Amino acid sequence: MYIYAHRGFSGEYPENTMIAFQRAYELGVDGIELDVQMTKDGELVVIHDERIDRTTDGIGYVKDFSYRQLRLFDAGGWFHTRFTGERIPTLVEVCDWLSDQKRSIVLNIELKNSIIRYHNMEEKLLTLLYSYRSWPHQVVCSSFSVQSLCLLHQLDPNVDKAMLVEGSQRHVLNAIRSFHAQEVHCDWNFLISQEGEKVSQEIDICVYTVNEPFLFTELMKRDVKAVMTDFPNRLFRR
Ligand code: G3P
Ligand code: CA
Repeated sequence: MYIYAHRGFSGEYPENTMIAFQRAYELGVDGIELDVQMTKDGELVVIHDERIDRTTDGIGYVKDFSYRQLRLFDAGGWFHTRFTGERIPTLVEVCDWLSDQKRSIVLNIELKNSIIRYHNMEEKLLTLLYSYRSWPHQVVCSSFSVQSLCLLHQLDPNVDKAMLVEGSQRHVLNAIRSFHAQEVHCDWNFLISQEGEKVSQEIDICVYTVNEPFLFTELMKRDVKAVMTDFPNRLFRR
């Protein structure tokens, strides 16, 4: 079972920042998951929420700032003062950094476009990814938005896609067939549901967010491809 760092090594470093990605990589994770939103001037930036309030010293929506403005906010001090100075990274920045890393991993890019429907986000993402085609890392694009995954599939059927699912969600099989998903990423509640049982027989499953070692042990008994965790150190210690 593979271990992916959820928002980077976000249990011990500020989520979705360069230091969280670097430390996860150094620890030896098999993959890194991150979240992408879009600025007013169309830059893909790595941040979980639509607003910057929770994880920076600023207030407002990502969509209302240009990237130059967004860059001025601190994205580390909220977690601990020793991380003051971390910035909201661009997706390009993360990909450039990953380009320099020799050990290949999975980069799971979650398109955060189900609350705000960012215009052209899928096109922009694909254009960006084409410039990293020669690297050894595997990219998987995920989203809670089926519409967005369908669009990605129309634009490029070869891009690896994962549908994000939670709780007692139904009709997942129909959805994943419609855009030829490679994986489903789900929580524990979905995994143990009837629908979850059916889905796991058809497609690779990754489970989020697994922070407790006992849950990890439970998942090892099941046929799960990967777990996403905020604390990859806890799972590696086993
Ligand atoms: O990709 C799995 C997981 O990250 C989805 O939930 O809210 O942590 O982005 P969230
Ligand atoms: Ca995510």
